[in-house]
Amino acid sequence: MTRKHATTFGILLGWIALIAAGCAVGAIPQASPNGSGPAVGEPVARASTAPEPRDTPERIILNLTAAPATSQAVTWRTEAQTATPRSQIARADGSGAFDARARTVDAESLSVVLGDGRRVHHHRVIFEGLEPETRYAYRVGAGQTWSEWNHFETAGTASSPFSFVYFGDPQEEVLSKCARVFRAAFKKAPEADFWHFVGDLVDNGDRDEEWAELFEALGWIPRTTPLILLPGNHEYPDKRFVHGPAYRLFPLWRPHFTLPENGPAGLEETVYRIDYQGTRLVMLNGNEKLEEQAAWLDRILGLDPQHWTIVAIHQPIYSTGKHRDKTLLENLFVPIFDRHGVDLVLQGHDHTYSRSFKLRGGQRVGPDQPGTVYVISVSGPKSYPVNPRHLARMARTGTGRQLFQVIRVSAGRLAYEAFDAAGELFDAMELKKESPRKADSP
Ligand SMILES: [Fe+2]
Repeated sequence: MTRKHATTFGILLGWIALIAAGCAVGAIPQASPNGSGPAVGEPVARASTAPEPRDTPERIILNLTAAPATSQAVTWRTEAQTATPRSQIARADGSGAFDARARTVDAESLSVVLGDGRRVHHHRVIFEGLEPETRYAYRVGAGQTWSEWNHFETAGTASSPFSFVYFGDPQEEVLSKCARVFRAAFKKAPEADFWHFVGDLVDNGDRDEEWAELFEALGWIPRTTPLILLPGNHEYPDKRFVHGPAYRLFPLWRPHFTLPENGPAGLEETVYRIDYQGTRLVMLNGNEKLEEQAAWLDRILGLDPQHWTIVAIHQPIYSTGKHRDKTLLENLFVPIFDRHGVDLVLQGHDHTYSRSFKLRGGQRVGPDQPGTVYVISVSGPKSYPVNPRHLARMARTGTGRQLFQVIRVSAGRLAYEAFDAAGELFDAMELKKESPRKADSP
């Protein structure tokens, strides 16, 4: 365990102790032993139907690390506390004996007490020292209980074409109506190198049953396609009612994911950057510490050697939702986006769809001029009418559709397509850029 991880888990364990103190942890009912049943007419003692906690790995999620060419993170959960949780990894090939040279990596573990008093156990491994552009097989487990083997591929070290899928808020009816969007996205772009969520994955981020729905809806896809994600306002308490130190990221976020910690202090695993094959991907957290994030963003984009720069934030810069006016975000971030030539901003929150023209300082510019495209999308069924406030800035708006976006990136060209849950093309655009345009000269 690195010192950084030890610190992280220390913090997490700190709040877990806090949660545990407020929750009664109920005794776990024991299954009745097998034996002869009661004679007819005898009162029947009702046997407990509560199952034993299981050590089967579930919620197995790959996440990109800050060094995606040579490392890969995986996180999973068990109901039972397992001895020596660990993972195995081997280069994948078509032979059935691919696992003969698997190496074993011990996991770090963390216990979480849920709202109903159940204690569950999260485990994580970061595979290090991997070869770039290589397919690996891995499995997770403990003792004799293992997951199936799954594959992932490491990124390349240089600028080379890749693709990813971007999703706006799932948030509501996540199993019932979002699973179909995830499956449509996987069928449309099975080769996508990662999936990118921009917050509000669930409606109440402190309710484990809602996360259970999300992971059931995603199925095995995150076992083979890494996720990157950032929190929305629903992964936090309601700002209208909760203030001060109590206003903080819900404790179920960090145990489920293993995300980079290279952002500002206090925003670990919510604000970070990843350089992926010639593109800098930056996650912002629109819920708190915005000034700290702006200073950090200005600094890291000033040092950005990548061809493309894509920033993601849950709350939109130019909102097309109802009653939402986020001039604070506009004033804080647009000058930084303009100064450093951010190409694309991916957002959620509004439960509408909008894609702006290329903008600079909020003004429309020509397709060959430097500027930023701002997109808002939604993958769940909840939808709001489009507010006309920023219509002059928008190339396309819409509402009432469940959408996903496939983004294909290569040096010089970024191709963007939005599809609806039925797989129909809803919107498309293309950005071209011969060389990276970075900070303004005075
Ligand atoms: Fe939302």
